[in-house]
Amino acid sequence: MNLPTRRLGDLTVTSVGVGCMPMSFPAMLEKRDQAIATLHRALDLGVTLIDTANIYAPSSSTIGHNETLVAEALRTYTGAADLGAVVVATKGGITRGSGGTYGSDSSPDALRAACEKSLACLGVSQIQLYQHHRPDPDLPYADQIRALLALKEAGLVARIGLSNASDEQIDIAIGILGGPQDGGVVSVQNQYSPKFRANRAALDRCTELGIAYLPWSPLGGASQASEVGSRYVEFAEVAAEVGATAQEVTLAWLLKLSPVVINIPGATRPATIDSIVKSATLELSDQQQARLDATVPETA
Ligand SMILES: NC(=O)c1ccc[n+]([C@@H]2O[C@H](COP(=O)([O-])OP(=O)(O)OC[C@H]3O[C@@H](n4cnc5c(N)ncnc54)[C@H](OP(=O)(O)O)[C@@H]3O)[C@@H](O)[C@H]2O)c1
Repeated sequence: MNLPTRRLGDLTVTSVGVGCMPMSFPAMLEKRDQAIATLHRALDLGVTLIDTANIYAPSSSTIGHNETLVAEALRTYTGAADLGAVVVATKGGITRGSGGTYGSDSSPDALRAACEKSLACLGVSQIQLYQHHRPDPDLPYADQIRALLALKEAGLVARIGLSNASDEQIDIAIGILGGPQDGGVVSVQNQYSPKFRANRAALDRCTELGIAYLPWSPLGGASQASEVGSRYVEFAEVAAEVGATAQEVTLAWLLKLSPVVINIPGATRPATIDSIVKSATLELSDQQQARLDATVPETA
């Protein structure tokens, strides 16, 4: 199936990818086959972007769980998809402690160690897109970006992306790495959804610079994804008009916000992939888009 594509730096990927975080939730531990089948369904339907992270794991002692799962799905795939066209994007910079605590460490040594572990879990010699998971509040942002640059210069990562970055931080990173045309910052992964639109300035900056923008938790996260149509009735109304679900309309709305948007909704079931793929070709009118834009988010 030929899905619409978008630019990710020098790469071309489908406008919809798969976010793998929910596949490593504790409830999925007994459903590894289902998670693998979900990724295989995405590959079968031509999806070429997979988003993972070192910390997507059921516990702090199983860091790398999700990356290992992605690697297994690619290794065991026997379908017709060209795996050479598939981009696996991972992340580093967040730490997990026992007892469910999360922290940040973007010191050069910590990022290097995290990256080396990701390489081992993914079973590759170079990471195609390495995303800085979030700014470390204890270090100057520029130093963190230089630590990422060192990973690229060492050949461990081919491309650098940012995550949870403000428009000012995007500019700091561009000042050091350059933009997508220079082989610098190729993507920004920030929260954006019907309920959370506080990152609009970063989205606008990415649009201006041609940097891919990957909205995380586009449906409001796993716990609220099924409620998007009841929380934001306009999305359900437009869904009825176009013969789609409120979730598909949400994903289509995000794609129409900007040509740099690439969706990475989370999925744990093959049927969800079918719906995500359907959203990639769902056309909304300008009037429908304006109605959805006008809905009031929880975080503006
Ligand atoms: N950079 C960051 O800081 C950060 C933070 C959070 C997330 N992320 C990334 O962003 C990805 C997406 O965010 P998320 O997983 O938190 O939230 P999400 O995409 O808003 O919600 C995920 C849930 O939505 C359901 N879903 C997806 N597409 C659907 C559709 N078309 N119709 C009905 N249900 C649908 C899935 O259901 P099923 O489980 O039933 O398939 C899944 O449980 C993550 O997987 C992760 O890769 C990044």
